[in-house]
Order: sequence, then C-alpha cells, then structure tokens
Amino acid sequence: MISDKSLSEYIKGIPKAELHVHIEGTLEPELMFEFAERNGIKIKYKSVQELREAYNFNNLQEFLDIYYAGASVLLTEQDFFDMTCSYLQKAHSQNVIHAEIFFDPQSHTSRGISFDTVIKGIHRALEDGKTKFGISSKLIPCFLRHLDSDSAMETLKTAGQYKDWITAFGLDSSEKGNPPLKFQKVFDAVREAGFLTVAHAGEEGPAEYVWEAIDVLKVSRIDHGNRSLDDASLVEYLSREKIPLTVCPLSNLKLKVVKDLKKHPLKEMMKRGVMVTINSDDPAYFGGYVGENYMALADSLDLNREEIYQLVQNSFTASFLNDDEKKIMVTKAAEFNFDFNPV
Ligand code: HPA
Ligand code: ZN
Repeated sequence: MISDKSLSEYIKGIPKAELHVHIEGTLEPELMFEFAERNGIKIKYKSVQELREAYNFNNLQEFLDIYYAGASVLLTEQDFFDMTCSYLQKAHSQNVIHAEIFFDPQSHTSRGISFDTVIKGIHRALEDGKTKFGISSKLIPCFLRHLDSDSAMETLKTAGQYKDWITAFGLDSSEKGNPPLKFQKVFDAVREAGFLTVAHAGEEGPAEYVWEAIDVLKVSRIDHGNRSLDDASLVEYLSREKIPLTVCPLSNLKLKVVKDLKKHPLKEMMKRGVMVTINSDDPAYFGGYVGENYMALADSLDLNREEIYQLVQNSFTASFLNDDEKKIMVTKAAEFNFDFNPV
C-alpha cells in the first residue's frame, strides 16, 4: 500500500491516457455470468468467486486459455457494446481521458461471430464514451500470432472495410515460437492500406523479437517490451528513436514475467531514457485498472510525483493522437499537476 495518501490522490486524479488494454480483458466475471445467462451459454465455473479463484497463472499461455474461454460468452453487438461501456465507465472514474483499445477479431470470427457484430458494438460504445465522459479513443484490432498469416490476411481484408474506425493493427497471443517475422507480409499490407502498426514483443519472447517488430513490422510502439533490457544496443535504440513501450506491471506480475514488482524493469528503462507508459492489459484478470497499475509500481519502485507526471506525459506523447490533440491533453495534465496542493 502507498503510505503517501497525496501520491495516491495524485495518481487517481491526474488526466491520463491508456494505450494497452484488450477490451476482452476488461470483461469482469459478474458481466461474464450475466452475458452467459442471457445468451444461454454454460460457464464451467459455478460462481463469480470460483471463476476469480481460477485466475492464477504460471505463464502467458495459461492466461490465454482462460481469456479465450471467457470471451466465448460474447455473442451479440449488445454484448460488445455493454462490455466496452463498462470499461469506459471504469476508465473515466480513474480520469483516463484517452484510450487506445485492442480487440481480437479472430477469437470471435472463429466462433461464428461476424467482424461487423464485434466492431459495431465496440465502436458504438466508444462514441457514447466520447459524448458521456469526453473520452477520446483509437481502435486497434490485433492478429492472433498462434494462428497462421493467411488467417491474419483474411482478417485484414474484412477489417480494412472499417478504415474510418481503425487506427492501427497489432499482434498478440502466444509469443514464444511465433516471431514477428511470421507476419511480415500481413504487416506490409497493413501499412500499404494506410494503418499504423504495433506488436506485443519481449513479454515472454526474447529481445530479438523486439528488434524484429521494429525492423520487419515497422511498429510505432512495442507492447510490453520487458526483455529489451537484455540488449543494451536495443535499449539505446529505443531511447534514441523514441519508440515507446506500453508496460503493464500487474500483468507482468500475474503472468510471472517478473517475480516481484520490486524487480520490475520500468524504473531502469526510464533511467536509460526509454519512453515508457503504464497500462492495464487485461484488468479484469490481473487485479487492477490503469490506476491500480500506477499505484502498485509507485509503491514497489518508490516512484515520486515527478516520475508519475513523466509517465502520464509519456502516455499522451506515445499515443496516436495528432499533435494538437496531444498538446491539449498534456496541458490538462500540466494544469492538474500545477494545481495539486495536498493538505
Ligand atoms: N500478451 C499477449 N496476448 C495477449 C495479452 C498479453 O499480455 N493479453 C491479451 N492477449
Ligand atoms: Zn497485451
């Protein structure tokens, strides 16, 4: 627990952006049971409590198995709408003013749910979030890297019809044995179609995968990137080229990417000039939304207010907003920072 009450109030209150959150990972057990009931789907756990107790993972794959099973209760546009609204409400309560949101089309189309159903539900909620809470957003479909590149290409063809609603494409799921190189052709096509690219890399996979994501997939950001510290020349490159990392501390802890948050690499990355940001990844599964992620790291790495402020500024700088939009949001954070006078 953070003993400095003012620091926790600062973290909660400061306007911030979240750049790494999988919308399917925001599906809380209560909502999962509600959707299962209204859709006539059976869940293998008897209660919310029993389901939560299953959230103990030894690695990424153990999590992914439960995460894809959880997503199988999502059938209708209304389900995707409700799930996204629920995330936005939570994000708003933590003063998130901009969110860049991942979703996994193939985990739904493989179950017979159309891409249109998925994106229409999510998009409508994002529009509502803008009106109701003033939260701006970007949408990033991710290719599942455990599937083949033909399936990714097919997904791109379908998704490409929603150009106005999509900013970038990403790469997620089982990292080991599925290097960025496997998706070279798909990402070439993504960029030719005018989209930006990001990729999960260096979460469980080696620093070499981070290099590949940069060199081959030409990503604008690396999702996670923990293992970058294994390679000094990579750290130097990330720092010099200002390639941001979207770091997810509670995810790293729950998936045993780090043994202990006190040993989390974020502070070392900051010291070495890397543009790092703090994010929640799959908050319903990892025990906290973005605010709790800031809080947990501030506590375990002894981050001070200046460091938190830097991380919040990074969250806007590293976003896919245009320069004018970034300026407005950075100013909002700066005003909060200036006005913050704890008693
Ligand atoms: N890593 C890879 N794939 C994912 C994750 C993650 O942390 N969360 C949801 N899909
Ligand atoms: Zn992720």
